[in-house]
Amino acid sequence: MNIDFGIAGKKYLVTGASSGIGHATAILISRLGGKVVLNGRNEKRLRETLSQMEGDGHYFIPFDLSNLQGISKFIEDCIKGDNLKFDGFVYAAGVINPTLIKLEDIDNATKMFKINYYPYIALLKEFSSPKVMNNGGAIVAISSSAAKFPDKAQAIYASTKAAVDLSSEVAAKEFVKRKIKVNTVRPHATATPMAANCFADPEISDRYKLGIIYPEDVAKSIVFLLSDFSSRITGQHIYISGGLF
Ligand SMILES: NC(=O)c1ccc[n+]([C@@H]2O[C@H](COP(=O)([O-])OP(=O)(O)OC[C@H]3O[C@@H](n4cnc5c(N)ncnc54)[C@H](OP(=O)(O)O)[C@@H]3O)[C@@H](O)[C@H]2O)c1
Repeated sequence: MNIDFGIAGKKYLVTGASSGIGHATAILISRLGGKVVLNGRNEKRLRETLSQMEGDGHYFIPFDLSNLQGISKFIEDCIKGDNLKFDGFVYAAGVINPTLIKLEDIDNATKMFKINYYPYIALLKEFSSPKVMNNGGAIVAISSSAAKFPDKAQAIYASTKAAVDLSSEVAAKEFVKRKIKVNTVRPHATATPMAANCFADPEISDRYKLGIIYPEDVAKSIVFLLSDFSSRITGQHIYISGGLF
């Protein structure tokens, strides 16, 4: 039986597509027949993601998202690539630099907001235009469990993610008249380069009672939120705990 997820033939921007969660999400979207514009800065790794995708019509545009002034032109280029508007985007670009408050400085804070949050707002602004995004699509941002349960040394990181969550709730209200859903996922530590050593200690990995969280697990929740299977869900945050409470 062929199941229609409502993703086939749709066009999505996936940021952070050169690694981890964005990489896994781009591949899964392609398996369901969606077209993906891949973004990251590392061309070699974007090419690697592209080589693992199914179907055709995907392409990558390397761009540093912290260049906020360049975002409109970046989106213009994404549309010029195939003359098609988007049906949504996945914001999976991000950085973490755990720092205790006593060692925190404004440069670290600014750097994290310049990647984790400001470009997301700039993209929401671009996608609010009917010239960029069709009605009826979906937007998903990768927040973090830290937005709800912050740990030590996460004062800035957790704040960038809480900002993403709150702005997504606002966007959900503003975009609903165009039937565009806006949601976030809040994964706990996930086995990507960002959390590379996290699971080396069995005492830590054993606490994930449903199993270690892999990028492919997060990608499934993201694709659920892009798909018609979440057709009445907007302004929400899915906590991906792996059974760690
Ligand atoms: N892994 C975890 O434990 C975990 C848990 C909860 C939430 N998250 C969130 O999930 C998202 C994805 O993380 P991940 O684990 O997949 O990390 P990752 O493997 O390190 O990937 C991060 C991605 O962000 C991109 N990126 C970073 N700075 C960028 C910039 N200035 N411009 C454009 N792209 C940029 C990187 O691309 P280039 O290097 O090619 O630029 C890369 O593709 C992040 O927002 C992270 O906070 C991760």
